[in-house]
Amino acid sequence: MISFDVVTIFPQMFDGILKESILKRAQDGEHLQVKVHDLRDWSPDKKHRKVDDPPYGGGAGMVMMVEPIVAAIRDLKQENSYVVLLSASGNTFNQAKALDYSYKEHIILICGHYEGVDARVIEYIDEEVCVGEFVMTGGEIPAMAIIDATTRLIHGVLGNEDSPLDESFQEEGVLEYPHYTRPEEFENLRVPDILLSGNHAQIKKWREEHRKKKAV
Ligand SMILES: C[S@@+](CC[C@H](N)C(=O)[O-])C[C@H]1O[C@@H](n2cnc3c(N)ncnc32)[C@H](O)[C@@H]1O
Repeated sequence: MISFDVVTIFPQMFDGILKESILKRAQDGEHLQVKVHDLRDWSPDKKHRKVDDPPYGGGAGMVMMVEPIVAAIRDLKQENSYVVLLSASGNTFNQAKALDYSYKEHIILICGHYEGVDARVIEYIDEEVCVGEFVMTGGEIPAMAIIDATTRLIHGVLGNEDSPLDESFQEEGVLEYPHYTRPEEFENLRVPDILLSGNHAQIKKWREEHRKKKAV
């Protein structure tokens, strides 16, 4: 069982994804627990629940304040917690990191917004993580990507029929072989004969040969 605590200013963004498909099944099967928290609950400003302020030194946009984020981390942190700040300038999240996270017991995901978070937050976290070389509006979708990719690697979450062992990135730089399903022919595009042969040894060999190699 892995447990995520997500800290965000848009908790409702997580409703859909947690109620569908494998993430729902993982929660029902007690492999996954996700609690989504509104960062504004830790705002020192009880009236306006403010969590951002203009940047020192001037410039565009707002910066998320250090106090509410650190207060949230302090409240949610347990002995076994791993605290992750979503950040475009963090370490790249990849399949190896997803596997590493799948062995953790408790992960706190801090979602930034606006121009990002006060740099002093870094002193209170374990890792800054980036989900790709692009800038998103907030850390919510990156957090969902991390929860999803991590959860499907937890033993027992996927059935045998969709085992992650043959998938892309299980081996560094190696992608998956091509898949086909019915019909056998679509607009002159035929399924390779070998896949229709029933010869499992030959099919295995064909799939090995057709796994794509990615330059690393
Ligand atoms: C608009 S972004 C801030 C971008 C920041 N000013 C920069 O140039 O890197 C707001 C928030 O979205 C999240 N975010 C954006 N892109 C991300 C990415 N590629 N990976 C992880 N988090 C990301 C972070 O939490 C960030 O604090």
